[in-house]
Amino acid sequence: MASHSASHPHDPVQRAFGGGFGAFLAAAMRSPRDVGTLLPSGPALARRLAAVVPDASEAGRPQVVVELGAGTGAVTATIARAVDHDAVVIAVEKDPGLADRLRSRGLGVRVVTADAVTLSNILADNGVDRADVIISVLPWTLFDPQQQREFLAVFAAALATDGVFTAAAYSLSYWMPAAHRFRHELGRVFGEVLPTRTLWRHLPPAMTYVCRRPGAAGKGLTADPSR
Ligand SMILES: C[S@@+](CC[C@H](N)C(=O)[O-])C[C@H]1O[C@@H](n2cnc3c(N)ncnc32)[C@H](O)[C@@H]1O
Repeated sequence: MASHSASHPHDPVQRAFGGGFGAFLAAAMRSPRDVGTLLPSGPALARRLAAVVPDASEAGRPQVVVELGAGTGAVTATIARAVDHDAVVIAVEKDPGLADRLRSRGLGVRVVTADAVTLSNILADNGVDRADVIISVLPWTLFDPQQQREFLAVFAAALATDGVFTAAAYSLSYWMPAAHRFRHELGRVFGEVLPTRTLWRHLPPAMTYVCRRPGAAGKGLTADPSR
């Protein structure tokens, strides 16, 4: 598969982030509230997020995997490697420059330039009605309470009943009110919310929430192994 990393063979930073580091940094300076960090996700976080992708599609039905906030593809490339050969992977990115950059990497995924809140339309435009896996790399702590609630309602509605939603979170933001609110909302929307351990060597340290049973009466977070 073509990748921009090939055009930066001697630059470890470019290589680690798929060659999109400059474009990512520029987008972060342009729209700090949308991008939420100066660094794209590292390989360890990408692997942690993509770990929820099932080994194989159910017989007779290609799996549908959606990534929200795909940026320049730091996580997308790992997802593309993890999925079954017939899977439909839809990478959603709001910033047109980042989406174009990702599209040009030729990772074999469908790149959609759109706001993640329009997910039901995005699925319909791609001929599918439900996602089996939704992987969020959105900056949740920068969203206001209403946005958090609206986004999670949209994503839960788009998920298959036996599907999985996972979201990256920065561990150093754990005590921020917006992070607390996000965990509370996850517990309201999903019947099962499992936090994973912090990747302390990741810059910045990060963890994920793995959520199942959309729409089931949530009992809140299960015991938090990440702390
Ligand atoms: C933390 S960055 C993650 C980028 C990349 N996935 C990574 O892991 O390095 C968040 C990304 O979400 C995008 N984003 C923010 N709000 C969005 C929205 N409402 N819809 C789609 N993308 C959004 C930003 O433009 C940015 O690329």
